Amino acid sequence: MKIDPSKLDWRDAHELLVGAVLPRPIAFVSTIGENGVNNVAPFSFFTSISVKPAYVGFSVGRYREGRKKDTLVNIEFSNDFVINIVTEELIDAMNQASKDYPSDVDEFKEAGLTPVKGDLVRSPMVAESPVNMECRLVQIMQFGEAPRINNFVIGEVLRVHVKDYLWMDNKIKADRLKAVGRLGEELYCRTTDMFEKKRPLTL
Ligand SMILES: Cc1cc2nc3c(=O)[nH]c(=O)nc-3n(C[C@H](O)[C@H](O)[C@H](O)COP(=O)(O)O)c2cc1C
Repeated sequence: MKIDPSKLDWRDAHELLVGAVLPRPIAFVSTIGENGVNNVAPFSFFTSISVKPAYVGFSVGRYREGRKKDTLVNIEFSNDFVINIVTEELIDAMNQASKDYPSDVDEFKEAGLTPVKGDLVRSPMVAESPVNMECRLVQIMQFGEAPRINNFVIGEVLRVHVKDYLWMDNKIKADRLKAVGRLGEELYCRTTDMFEKKRPLTL
């Protein structure tokens, strides 16, 4: 089978990519709107980009008719956002927050989550997530043509809040974090089947 994404319709091209690029980490992105309403939504087109500076990025699509998602509108307004890591306990809340609510709806309330003030940004953090990254907007890139535009949002991580129970030897312990990953279709995976593989020594 050989498939050219450019020849597929948007939905099939999306399925092809999410079926091949996996498991994907999930950025649970919290923001605040110009109207003062808190917002939170999951994005699995998410990655770290560089270490110093500590840049992370995630890709926001548009709704079918070309409308911008609230997360993007809010970041364009406030120039900041928080990335909260999705753990097994947060799956239901994350799924609820992925619904397309009108921008005057507080998605923390809808998902049963608690907003906490960050130290350095205006966007709220999700109290229930054990890792929160306060980010300042660096750049928004744009790809594709209307109405199916993707915007890649790059932010600098200014501060990371890590719950004490995760922290050992100056590291976040993955077996305690219990982060979930996103696969294709409506599938997810847990991080409970880990194995270690030492890298070959480099001379
Ligand atoms: C696990 C998961 C991952 C998602 N990843 C993305 C993504 O990478 N990009 C995107 O545009 N939408 C993604 N979505 C859909 C958004 O979360 C959804 O459109 C949401 O309503 C956007 O909310 P907002 O309008 O409040 O920003 C994902 C949904 C789920 C459940």
